[in-house]
Amino acid sequence: MTHSFPILSFEGRQTPFYYYDIALLKETLDAIQAQLKDQPTWQVHYAVKANHNPELLQQIAAAGFGADCVSGGEVQAALDAGFRAKDIVFAGVGKADWEILLGLEAGIGRFNVESAAELRVIDALAESKGVVAPVSLRVNPDIGAHTLAGITTGLAENKFGIYHGMVDDVAREALSLPHIRFCGLHFHIGSQILDLHDFAALCGRINELTERLESEGIPVGDINVGGGLGIEYGHPNSLPKADFASYFNTYKRGLLGDKPVHFELGRAIIAPCGSLITRVLFVKEGMAKRFAIVDAGMNDLVRPAMYHSMHRIENLSSDGPKTAYDVVGPCCESSDVFGKDVFLNECHRGDLLAIRSAGAYGQSMASQYNCRPLAPAYYSE
Ligand code: LLP
Repeated sequence: MTHSFPILSFEGRQTPFYYYDIALLKETLDAIQAQLKDQPTWQVHYAVKANHNPELLQQIAAAGFGADCVSGGEVQAALDAGFRAKDIVFAGVGKADWEILLGLEAGIGRFNVESAAELRVIDALAESKGVVAPVSLRVNPDIGAHTLAGITTGLAENKFGIYHGMVDDVAREALSLPHIRFCGLHFHIGSQILDLHDFAALCGRINELTERLESEGIPVGDINVGGGLGIEYGHPNSLPKADFASYFNTYKRGLLGDKPVHFELGRAIIAPCGSLITRVLFVKEGMAKRFAIVDAGMNDLVRPAMYHSMHRIENLSSDGPKTAYDVVGPCCESSDVFGKDVFLNECHRGDLLAIRSAGAYGQSMASQYNCRPLAPAYYSE
């Protein structure tokens, strides 16, 4: 076994629970900052949607990162955790008036606006407050990403952003509105992207579009490239950190000019730091399968059921011979499966399993389906 879980401290706890490795989080934040040392105008905003657990938000805010939010609730969570308002960016195709007003009152750094209709509403609400709203336009770059089908965002068929061919008119309108300050462009092509050519293609689109707008007399102050860097779900022990050097180098090489660049990384920051710890309730021999039935369900971690995504699973309690199990939860859904034909050290009732790399889109997407309580969280320090 290669993991380093404090298994003794786990034994007395009620399962399931999330366990976060704070040392790994700090190492990850340091690794990102090391890449930005020579880029003083580049800034990373942690994507709060990946995990809004206040303890983790506080760590990330204290390390000097900004926050990327997609709802009024996330803006409030970021403010409560100590992120500076000016370092908060706020995206989303459907911002309600109260959410826009919250952002205006707090003085957040940027509204990433996704339609002309939203732009006009922000202008009116800013006027009612006697302020000017800093705005970037979210562009739909029509660039595919090699990732799970449910989580591409940058294609023309996706609901996000303003189609790249139509941005010029909306930018001109933004420049004309008295309570809007047009600052720049925002992009995001998808999530769990490991093929860096996708980000290189995005750079090409950004360069082309920026050049076109500027040739029309529309000044582009800065660029937000979104997030999307993937992690190695299959190798949490040998590759616990994403390849930040290659990721940032892709942008250092790909983007022309020297405009300030904003990033919105979520998964790559927090996914490897979290594991869902669950206990084996029963081992069941089926006709064709052997099941390890655990006490965590799809309500605690919905990713495998929702996207057929893979999380490495380890038996923390056993050194027995490896056998294939379908690891399933107790929810009343056939899709409540964490993994099929997973090789685990022989399982017994009461064994603790770790479902790895669950720090992103785990706790934040949890529900109380089947009247199940939300799993609590514990931390390595
Ligand atoms: N910026 C924007 C505008 C986004 O929509 C997202 C994620 C991010 C940044 C952060 O992306 P990241 O660096 O985490 O890839 N629930 C899915 C992922 C949904 C991602 C949604 N948008 C999952 O569990 O895989």
